[in-house]
Amino acid sequence: MNAHAAALAGNPRRDPPTSAFAADVLDGLSRQPKQLPPKYFYDATGSELFERITALPEYYPTRTELGILRAHGADIARMLPAHAALIEFGAGATTKARLLLSQSGFDAQSGFDAYVPVDISGEFLAAQARALRADFPGLAVHPVTADFTQPFELPDAVRDKPKVGFFPGSTLGNFEPHEAGAFLRGARAILGPGALMLIGVDLEKSDRVLHAAYNDDAGVTARFNLNLLARINRELGGNFNLAGFIHRAIFNRERHRVEMHLVSREAQTVRVLGKSFSFRAGESIHTENSYKYSLERFAALARSSGWTPQVSWTDDENLFSVHALLAQA
Ligand code: AVJ
Repeated sequence: MNAHAAALAGNPRRDPPTSAFAADVLDGLSRQPKQLPPKYFYDATGSELFERITALPEYYPTRTELGILRAHGADIARMLPAHAALIEFGAGATTKARLLLSQSGFDAQSGFDAYVPVDISGEFLAAQARALRADFPGLAVHPVTADFTQPFELPDAVRDKPKVGFFPGSTLGNFEPHEAGAFLRGARAILGPGALMLIGVDLEKSDRVLHAAYNDDAGVTARFNLNLLARINRELGGNFNLAGFIHRAIFNRERHRVEMHLVSREAQTVRVLGKSFSFRAGESIHTENSYKYSLERFAALARSSGWTPQVSWTDDENLFSVHALLAQA
């Protein structure tokens, strides 16, 4: 899933994903405690709000990761096999891939000669591919429309090339620990033995910094969270009163994750697709987990999921990390 998956997905009412959305919402609101999957944040409005989050002064991950990729560009380039294919899992706006491509060389030089962005939104992907071909002449761009959490086939054109996987943004943080392991094993199966993987992972840190990053002063994260209820109203005929819910984000240190919730201000009943859901005053809908790792815990996860850690890079404040992993034989 990524920030832009749904932005250009066309009429959501007629897409099959809408019925998955309907089923997941009805299921999630029927649970105790109530929950909704974070992948549904990213309709057009949510994708725009997420882009605004990445530019907030309190939201350190995006700019810190870009800084790490920039600062260690030469080290990264040196690790890359010649004439490699760069395969990005959940390619969104491709900002980070562009940085990697321009720092590592492309077109008959050392670095990459093919780029395979994998994303669920085919339309968004096609537009990104066109722009990349224009900006990186000589780079072969082979978009793959697929859900990267499921097995998918690489294009024939890159089958015989050395592979470099790319999974930036700490998107891994949305996965439960066992799902994160399954993703890494799946990526290892798709990329094959000997492949390299560059992956961005957010780090555990002070409550103060984490709290600020998910409770920004401008209230953009609150709007991003509440947009999920607005989306249910728009697409599933729900009647959520957005003023009846409060955004809450807390760091659960025991479970190594920031949790986002929408908390009901009062006892109320909401209807979605002809079903009623009752809320107690103070009852929450758990909308997101954003897992944070230590360098050691991430390395252990990688090692037990088919990858051998090669190098980890962090920023001066140890806010964020980028890891180079080698696929085990
Ligand atoms: C896209 C999952 C990496 O967890 O920081 C940002 C999503 N949620 N602010 C994150 C998010 C609230 C983001 N990820």
